[in-house]
Amino acid sequence: MLKNRSLIAPTDFTVSEIDEIIQLANDIISRPEHYCEACKGKLLASVFYEPSTRTKFSFDSAMSRLGGSVIGFSDPKSTSAAKGETLADSAKIFSQYADIIVVRHPKEGTAKLFSNYSDCPVINAGDGGHQHPTQTLTDLLTISRYKGRLDNMTIGVCGDLKFGRTIHSLVSSMSRYDNVKFIFISPNELKMPQYIIDILNEKHIPYTETSDLEESIPKVDVLYMSRVQRERFVSEEEYLRLKDFFILTADKLSKAKEDMIVLHPLPRVTEIATDVDADPRAKYFEQAKCGMYVRMALIMKLLGIDESSL
Ligand code: CP
Repeated sequence: MLKNRSLIAPTDFTVSEIDEIIQLANDIISRPEHYCEACKGKLLASVFYEPSTRTKFSFDSAMSRLGGSVIGFSDPKSTSAAKGETLADSAKIFSQYADIIVVRHPKEGTAKLFSNYSDCPVINAGDGGHQHPTQTLTDLLTISRYKGRLDNMTIGVCGDLKFGRTIHSLVSSMSRYDNVKFIFISPNELKMPQYIIDILNEKHIPYTETSDLEESIPKVDVLYMSRVQRERFVSEEEYLRLKDFFILTADKLSKAKEDMIVLHPLPRVTEIATDVDADPRAKYFEQAKCGMYVRMALIMKLLGIDESSL
């Protein structure tokens, strides 16, 4: 049962619970009008202490499309955080008004702290460089729709593997499906953190590490690109040195399998040239749209909305 649960890390939910969410998202995609009043009378608090386009707007539109309402902020300076209110007290207060809370914060662990003090379910919309589980639900829905499966594939993950929270969530989730292999493509300074490598080693999941994007492209079924996370760097000089390390172009993509797909959580900076956008394998804009549908399904599940009663 997902009712009243919080989602802090993607592996908080079992593979079969995630399958349930994906199934519901697919049904919402096929008949959205059926769900347009599913959350009538329910209120979502969307509290963003860090900038967002996709996550915030997709959650807000998800709740609106379900017939519910949204309160919240995207600038904490407009709240009593500016007067020194603690995150614990803020979480308690938001949960007095709302039925479900979506929180993004630059500090790792904040969503967990929120869930400890909130009286309603909390969804982690990104905590620092740690995890971003609803991006992973988005990615899983997109991969399953465009590849027809979540197992038996090689996933190339390219870019800032050190700070990319979407990547940490994706790899820990995909490691639960059969016969998934990873190619980690990054500069040496931005390699995958050891705690993710430990998860793979414990499960004997094959992975390789390289800094050669072009050599990796023909081998992968999914190429997951990511931007270098400027906001997590201590040194601007280091960021500038690494930011253009990988740039996927249409020319490089010509060496890929016909049925591979390119994903990116977005926003992109320079790591995917715009000439890739027209390639049918580029699915990152469709991925962003999948994000809204999977968040609709997630909200319904955590609020305990019974689909059979609609
Ligand atoms: N993918 C993602 O998290 O995008 P935003 O930062 O715009 O929400």
